Amino acid sequence: MRKKIVAGNWKMNKTLQEGIELAKTVNRQVEDNGVIVVLCTPFIHLTEVSKTITKDSLFLGAQNCASEVSGAYTGEVSAQMIRSTGADYVIIGHSERRSYYHEDDALLNKKVKLALANELIPIFCCGEVLQERQSGIHFDVVRSQIEKGLFDLSPEDFGKIVIAYEPVWAIGTGVTASSDQAQEMHKAIREQVAEKYGTTVADNTSILYGGSCKPSNAAELFANPDVDGGLIGGAALNAADFMGIVTAF
Ligand code: PGA
Repeated sequence: MRKKIVAGNWKMNKTLQEGIELAKTVNRQVEDNGVIVVLCTPFIHLTEVSKTITKDSLFLGAQNCASEVSGAYTGEVSAQMIRSTGADYVIIGHSERRSYYHEDDALLNKKVKLALANELIPIFCCGEVLQERQSGIHFDVVRSQIEKGLFDLSPEDFGKIVIAYEPVWAIGTGVTASSDQAQEMHKAIREQVAEKYGTTVADNTSILYGGSCKPSNAAELFANPDVDGGLIGGAALNAADFMGIVTAF
């Protein structure tokens, strides 16, 4: 059975002290009831936030990792370093990384492999920009991102991946994909995974929706058969909103 997951992506927000406070509040409120909750914090928060986590279903994640193992890469943070803080997850290929930092499919594929080699679970992001949806190529765009980013993995490694479908036009805009738009893309992704790795692997793959998910729309999105949770940006910065989404299943 695939897992239900709600991951908060704090992006470049919160001082260390603010982050610790938020993590403590979430930790207090999380119930160990089958939903996995992940806090994807800035790098500098990881070690301290790790110390605040006492719940079995609350996990820590990073928002990115280096594409190299170690060495002279000023400013970079390796998968191994992230793992050493106690993190279990890492977001890879967020649209902000793809667009602002020009991360392409080949680079993201390297990051996925380094994450897996260091026992981090990649939350692999995919999604089309508005113009691609308007010109009707959104299924092809997402299909290509998944194929190039993930499809040289062994079935065993692929089985560890979490996918996040995040239509770029919905991220931080307040415009959410409709429940039907989310479901049809998630279903297409699951069918693509099934073609490559078989139905058992596909059925066990958690596919999260991201893009202006909030307490008021989470229940409708999560009610879809192929939507297994969410990757939450803005609404993850406030414990009440974030917990409103966590409890929306
Ligand atoms: P948002 O961001 O919830 O603020 O739209 C989602 C994301 O970027 O992961």
